[in-house]
Amino acid sequence: MDIAALELSPDRIYKLLVSTVMPRPIALVSTLNEDGGLNAAPFSFFNVFSNAPPLLVVGIEGNKRADGQSHKDTARNIIARGEFVVNLVSYAMALPMVACAIDFPAGVSEFDQAGFTPRPSKQVAVPGIAESPVSFECRLFSTVSLPFNRSLVTGEIVHLHVADSAIDDKLHVDPDALDLIGRMHGGGWYTRTRDRFEVARMTPAEWQARKRQVGDK
Ligand SMILES: Cc1cc2nc3c(=O)[nH]c(=O)nc-3n(C[C@H](O)[C@H](O)[C@H](O)COP(=O)(O)O)c2cc1C
Repeated sequence: MDIAALELSPDRIYKLLVSTVMPRPIALVSTLNEDGGLNAAPFSFFNVFSNAPPLLVVGIEGNKRADGQSHKDTARNIIARGEFVVNLVSYAMALPMVACAIDFPAGVSEFDQAGFTPRPSKQVAVPGIAESPVSFECRLFSTVSLPFNRSLVTGEIVHLHVADSAIDDKLHVDPDALDLIGRMHGGGWYTRTRDRFEVARMTPAEWQARKRQVGDK
């Protein structure tokens, strides 16, 4: 089927994008509001895009709640304070992560509801989530404002936390120990990262040899 993107409503394009671009990693973003209150919310329009400088991007929709705010709390807090922490999500964190996306009344802390423990950060004022196997302390690098109060937020990673049980002295990371999850086709569907296979990179000569091997079968 051929589909002209401009002929679809934003809602229908959303459905197509999230059910084709998957799995998507999940950034559980912690931020501080103006009063110093701690906020946490998950975002799967998220990835890393550069290692020098180390940059990640989070896509945040406009606020659809009836609280009079144009932007979600996360976008507002990041833009106001210039700092945030991206916490990656393990299988054990799936349920409390989803709880962080509930529209609680103002003043209710997602950290309390989810049972997450704030972990003091080293280089930013915003705490991370102690239960997360990987956290990136970020400074706001750039913001692109999109229509309907959407924002593309780029963060420069200034400090990394990786669970001791998942990394060795040579910085080799054990993916099974991280046990991260990804978001699938919308709704409440997720996948684990434990079903893997390896295809090594090859030189031109190795590729020619490999093609011959496959052809011989
Ligand atoms: C797994 C998951 C992924 C999500 N991804 C996004 C996303 O990429 N962009 C977005 O705007 N909202 C996303 N949401 C919805 C936000 O988490 C939700 O609107 C949240 O309440 C925003 O909180 P805040 O107002 O404290 O920032 C996602 C929700 C879930 C459960």
